[in-house]
Amino acid sequence: MTVRLARLEQRDCAVWLGPALEIYVTAMNYPRGTEMHRAGLWREHIARPGWNAYGAIAHAPPAESTSMDLARRRLRHPVSPAQDEVLVGIAYGYRGARDQWWNQQLRAGLRTSGRDPRVVDAITDDYFELTELHVHPTAQGNGIGQWLLRQLLADRPERQVLLSTPEIPAEQNRAWSLYRRLGFADVLRNFTFTGDPRRFAFLGRQLPLIEPAPAPPDATR
Ligand SMILES: CC(C)(COP(=O)(O)OP(=O)(O)OC[C@H]1O[C@@H](n2cnc3c(N)ncnc32)[C@H](O)[C@@H]1OP(=O)(O)O)[C@@H](O)C(=O)NCCC(=O)NCCS
Repeated sequence: MTVRLARLEQRDCAVWLGPALEIYVTAMNYPRGTEMHRAGLWREHIARPGWNAYGAIAHAPPAESTSMDLARRRLRHPVSPAQDEVLVGIAYGYRGARDQWWNQQLRAGLRTSGRDPRVVDAITDDYFELTELHVHPTAQGNGIGQWLLRQLLADRPERQVLLSTPEIPAEQNRAWSLYRRLGFADVLRNFTFTGDPRRFAFLGRQLPLIEPAPAPPDATR
């Protein structure tokens, strides 16, 4: 199955937001219904300065075209001109700023860890927040996540990229191996966001990503 990357435009979000949330809920193994709570937040993110998003898009396999999962990820015009494609991956982010909750959580965490205020400023003053990166489980393990991430980070004006990801024993999942492979380093570990008991890591790396882009993947299974 051939995969293409496409920039997801704010004006087309009525077409791609539902499929993107479907991938998010499935990839993160969240309970069904989570997507309804997230929709408002994602719409708010879309309006933030420096917001940008890419989708990984594939032709829907005819044999499975009646499944509910595929139906939820099906794209329409104008994102899919032929209307015969599904979303298989999503990546988005925006420019970080001090009035954002995530920025404030990170700054508080850095201060609590004993970082000098000048260091806290240096870390949090000029960055792109990688907010969401998800590939549908049926398409994982083919380099699509890396392709999306490289595309999203290409030509960013910010000095660095920061993200948060759940702590995983021995960093043994695809997200951690992707971030480490691309040179992301620890910024703050074992942090708990207000209202969420799970532990998260903040990771970051300088921009630009200077290694040459890999050849695009041509199969999702
Ligand atoms: C994290 C995630 C986005 C990574 O996407 P992915 O497409 O699965 O992973 P990558 O792009 O890193 O692909 C790497 C794998 O593809 C394989 N691959 C095949 N062709 C490739 C190519 N051209 N380039 C790179 N890797 C390739 C690699 O061998 C590697 O396989 P492995 O993981 O079995 O070792 C995805 O696994 C996911 O959505 N996970 C669940 C949600 C999640 O954790 N999101 C992040 C929250 S912070």
